[in-house]
Amino acid sequence: MAETGTACKVAFVGSECYPFVKTGGLGDVMYALPRALTREGCEVRVILPMYACIPEKFKKEMKYIGSFMMDLTLEGRTFYVGIMELEMDGVTYNFIDNREFFDWGNPYTGLWEDIPKYCYFSKASLAILNYLEWIPDVIHCHDWQAALVPLYLKTKFWNSDLATSRTVLTIHNLRFQGICSIAHLKYWSGLSDGLFDYSVLIQGDDEANMFKGGLAYADRITTVSETYAREIQTPDFGERLDGHLRYHQGKLSGIVNGIDTDIWNSETDKLLAVPYTREDVLQKKWENKCALRQKLDLNQEDGSKIMIGLISRLTDQKGLDLIDYIFPKIMEDGRTQVIVLGTGDKRYENAFRYYEGVYKGDVCAYISYNESLAHQIYAGTDAFLVPSLFEPCGLTQLIAMRYGTVPIVRETGGLKDTVAPYNPETGEGNGFTFVMYRPADLLDAIDRAKEVFFGDRPGWDGIVQRDMEKDVSWEQSAKQYLALYEELKKGN
Ligand code: ADP
Ligand code: GLC
Repeated sequence: MAETGTACKVAFVGSECYPFVKTGGLGDVMYALPRALTREGCEVRVILPMYACIPEKFKKEMKYIGSFMMDLTLEGRTFYVGIMELEMDGVTYNFIDNREFFDWGNPYTGLWEDIPKYCYFSKASLAILNYLEWIPDVIHCHDWQAALVPLYLKTKFWNSDLATSRTVLTIHNLRFQGICSIAHLKYWSGLSDGLFDYSVLIQGDDEANMFKGGLAYADRITTVSETYAREIQTPDFGERLDGHLRYHQGKLSGIVNGIDTDIWNSETDKLLAVPYTREDVLQKKWENKCALRQKLDLNQEDGSKIMIGLISRLTDQKGLDLIDYIFPKIMEDGRTQVIVLGTGDKRYENAFRYYEGVYKGDVCAYISYNESLAHQIYAGTDAFLVPSLFEPCGLTQLIAMRYGTVPIVRETGGLKDTVAPYNPETGEGNGFTFVMYRPADLLDAIDRAKEVFFGDRPGWDGIVQRDMEKDVSWEQSAKQYLALYEELKKGN
């Protein structure tokens, strides 16, 4: 149990965490939420795999803490577990070292290899807590990669010191569940036959599902917005687990994500051409826009074009087929520039490259992962597109708003919860939204944004000001997580 003075002792278990390894928003949350909880008085330890792809400069800072052998698999094969440690701004990070599992991938490879890798990771996370004799009040697990933690805790670790710890499992994205053949999961997890039941790990005729099992065994389930918490209980968003989630709805809730407002701060952001505040955003955003055009070889204009940004994993989730469909229409007025930063499906990478060729000087398709350019795009563009098919929370619209860039989003999941539609009558709202997943509806939202940008500048500038004022920090949500942990600690 936590010592006096500490609100709660919490272990975070997840597969990525900025700045060590990040492929999307999960990495941001694993970084920012522990820091926000620390500010609320919690003691937080973050447990991660020691991937080979973690930058050398962090590896050099890590201390070796100890090692032991742990059994895994049905036949009880033993595997090395090394513990490395690094401390950063009041949060302790433990990296689980095992070259067999973590020596390749960025950090994921393919499900066939990832399933054994994350069985090992989930079990080893509990084993190192025992080894360190660091017994948390709550073990907060993230996504399918950490979903076996509640199962291991209540079976293999039931008579260890850890047995008093409670578990929270957060769904960041239900599309990925860790599904494989029953035999594969049985072998690697080494979990008992009793758990391979339809109410726990089994689905359909012959599949095992790690997320499903974790959701059944976790003491609480959260997801990253209230709307997504409701959506995933329906067949359209439930990814075949809607019935399972409805069954467990009593322990399911939504807590919206925030962003780290130190990293994402236009006033102190060293990556920007010109830093700015809410007071001078109108002038300084223009300077950032010019610098961005120069950097990306886009035509310099006299101010008469709107610049629209998109930063995203290029996958079906993100509504890119809608954009592809209407791209020529977006460009038709000759008053638009578009910048895309992302990597992913070849289909989308090629589509954006194609439009870059067709609209030379007005479209940039930057097909790569680039943190500093991301900062410059958030700051230098006027509007920001997030037309997702589904979006558990979404962080890019939050960052865009913080940088005074007006989001154009589809009303789904966290996008709906964080971007209030602009109402020209009352002058309220944060951005432009559409509901139905149809190209014409996205185009209509973009056209409405352009109408205000070109035709009602005071109206547009008002949105920019409101967006920069909006609280997108972690503070409120961290308090909600803490309240949840405290309830669990009381035994509820
Ligand atoms: P998801 O987790 O579904 O990818 P989020 O909106 O929650 O979506 O988080 C995406 C995060 O990844 C944001 O911090 C965004 O800035 C970042 N990001 C996505 N693609 C790139 C890229 N190509 N270069 C730099 N940052 C990126
Ligand atoms: C997932 C979701 C995204 C969310 C992020 C962090 O990757 O796709 O919507 O913001 O996790 O919770």
